[in-house]
Amino acid sequence: MRITTEQNDISSVLFSEEQIEERVNQLAKQLTADYEGKDPLMICVLKGASFFYADLCRSMKCRLFMDFIAVSSYGMNARSTGVVRIIKDLDKNITDRHVVIVEDIIDSGLTLKYLKELLSARKPASIKTICLLDKITQHKCEIKPDYCGFSMPDHFVVGYGLDYSDYYRNLPYIGILKPETYQ
Ligand code: PRP
Repeated sequence: MRITTEQNDISSVLFSEEQIEERVNQLAKQLTADYEGKDPLMICVLKGASFFYADLCRSMKCRLFMDFIAVSSYGMNARSTGVVRIIKDLDKNITDRHVVIVEDIIDSGLTLKYLKELLSARKPASIKTICLLDKITQHKCEIKPDYCGFSMPDHFVVGYGLDYSDYYRNLPYIGILKPETYQ
């Protein structure tokens, strides 16, 4: 395992590189079966989902298309504010396309709910959601991802794309951040 100074801020590893790889491959297999012949448009919600998205799409065996949307709900706060800003919209028209929104984590659920409603209004043929992590006890709205990597308790996690103040995204595992780091 790589040793970095950022690693000193991690109290424990919640999901290892190996666990993530295995689960992402399982999800990719499921999506491949479900979307064969549908040419899905895989939408990456930047920036947190970037590593998950890349690994998931690379592991899928059906034809697919890629597009990116950037939103911000946390800003520089440790907790979701519920205010969702679109920073970069999709390049492609999604009308009549089979769309899959790829997220790294659901916390309050407000970001994914907002995105799903926003994109549904553009009349895709279908719209589904996938998240790597779901903090099911923290939801503040009705939201259930169609595909989910792991359910997890309410820890502040970073790595594999997830950040705190833009740090820690390139840690190869998902780790629990020491509270003194952000309190
Ligand atoms: C994070 C994460 C989700 C959202 C989840 O994004 O990537 O998009 O928060 O929180 P919620 O369920 O409470 O809405 P963030 O705004 O931190 O941006 P980032 O992906 O660029 O890190």
